[in-house]
Amino acid sequence: MNTRYYCTTPIYYVNGAPHIGHAYTCVATDVLARWKRLEGREVFFLTGTDEHGQKVEKAAADAGVDPQTFIDGMADGFRAMAEKMNTSHDRFIRTTEPEHKKAVAALWSRLEERGEIYLGSYEGWYAVRDEAFYGEDELTLKPDGKRYAPTGAPVERVTEPSYFFRLSRWGDALLKLYEDQPDFIAPQARRNEVISFVKQGLTDLSISRTSFSWGVPVPGDAKHVVYVWLDALTNYLTAVGYPDETSPAWPFWPADLHMVGKDILRFHAIFWPAFLMAAGLPLPRRVFAHGWWTVEGEKMSKSLGNTIEPGALVDEFGLDPVRFFLLREVPFGNDGDFSRRAMIGRMNTELANDLGNLAQRTLSLIARNCDGALPARGAETGEDATLLRDAASLPAKMGAQIDRQAFHEALEEAWKVIRAANGYIDRQAPWALKKTDPDRMRDVLRVLADVLRIIATVMQPFVPGSAARMLVQLGVREAAGEQVPFAALETHLEEGTRLPAPQGIFPRFVDEAV
Ligand code: ME8
Ligand code: MG
Repeated sequence: MNTRYYCTTPIYYVNGAPHIGHAYTCVATDVLARWKRLEGREVFFLTGTDEHGQKVEKAAADAGVDPQTFIDGMADGFRAMAEKMNTSHDRFIRTTEPEHKKAVAALWSRLEERGEIYLGSYEGWYAVRDEAFYGEDELTLKPDGKRYAPTGAPVERVTEPSYFFRLSRWGDALLKLYEDQPDFIAPQARRNEVISFVKQGLTDLSISRTSFSWGVPVPGDAKHVVYVWLDALTNYLTAVGYPDETSPAWPFWPADLHMVGKDILRFHAIFWPAFLMAAGLPLPRRVFAHGWWTVEGEKMSKSLGNTIEPGALVDEFGLDPVRFFLLREVPFGNDGDFSRRAMIGRMNTELANDLGNLAQRTLSLIARNCDGALPARGAETGEDATLLRDAASLPAKMGAQIDRQAFHEALEEAWKVIRAANGYIDRQAPWALKKTDPDRMRDVLRVLADVLRIIATVMQPFVPGSAARMLVQLGVREAAGEQVPFAALETHLEEGTRLPAPQGIFPRFVDEAV
């Protein structure tokens, strides 16, 4: 089995500050990367920034700053966001790095040598906001007399010399790819959209621009810069050493998963595999397009002033509750709405009540009634065995959901066990057993401690800081640090292990605004 695992987020345009949508993709991909590491895979997790193109050039001009200074500042903002969200990326790539420009030029030359590129001229429509070309038939003429793309982005007329990529050649090969590898595009509904788009026929793609200069120069024809999407997509290759196929990181290629938002699925599911096939390079295994966040029912936009800054959210609610909310609130793949009410609800009901109280009750009983030492494993009743067995099945069950990027289902699996454990503690009432049957009390507390240990272990990818504190509280280790792999669950904790004084792990949020 291939033990390497390579996952990516999109690289974000540095035309504006990061918001909750960017944080979402980072956190989801981070959960995947962390999960795979706990399974024992060697993971490479890539994120970064997309810094060329007309949109970024224009944002710099609007800010009255030279592009390099502008993007340096903005890229710092994205890096800080990733850190604030505690993403465990192995590399933060920027498309203005010399290494990346070399990779883009190399891919271009390879496509050219293979007869996939020709010089022509482009006459048609372009949306700077999407950095995308649109066909006349895709546009809507609005009462303001302007034409708009299906995404709502205004388009402008472009007439300029341009190099083209022979995309029209690759339609059948793409359809065969989707057919042969049904998991290449997910979710299913999005896959169907891509298939019907490709079936309508593909036209050759303009892959260079001459009307501005903020980009990678076309090899051998510096009047042109490489189309920003060809430039950007190449980042996934740059990061693993392309064009040096002897680079130590190259064995990570092809990527196991490109995580993207639904807005950029076509670029990843059509253009990207076509470029790679044309270049004779292996194809990524899967592209997952997640849904779109709105805020209190409205589209996030700078003009509405309702964009949510991830840092502010984390400062208010705490990092792990935010990470948890993002992946728990909405079936992954669907659109979602951010509201304070929903955020506080999830945090208080599921983290503070369901999980926090379970841990608190168990740990304080052990502290009080067992001298703060882990009791021995006892004779297991039927109910003990069922609960332990259900908990022990979590790494496999959640892993299967995570392989489908069904993060909400993975969490639901964990919550089934947490709810069962709450039912168990209520029925067994270990606090009452202290007088009537202290041996049974110890057995029950040990079952609960073992179940909590499994839960803390599988929750590490979702709420890394809190899960680490839980593992310390449970005596699994002395200090938070490296993650505890699933393989560690094969050994039982020793009886008599000293547990530190219990401390609350998931605080309730008291809304002062209400
Ligand atoms: O498209 N809800 O960059 P971008 C959910 N540079 N996710 C959202 C979101 C929202 N409201 N808003 C943004 C680009 N995202 C290109 C990518 S990749 C080779 C080049 C997330 O800054 C989501 O992942 O416009 C979306 O696909 C991405 O940010 C777009 O970021
Ligand atoms: Mg965008």
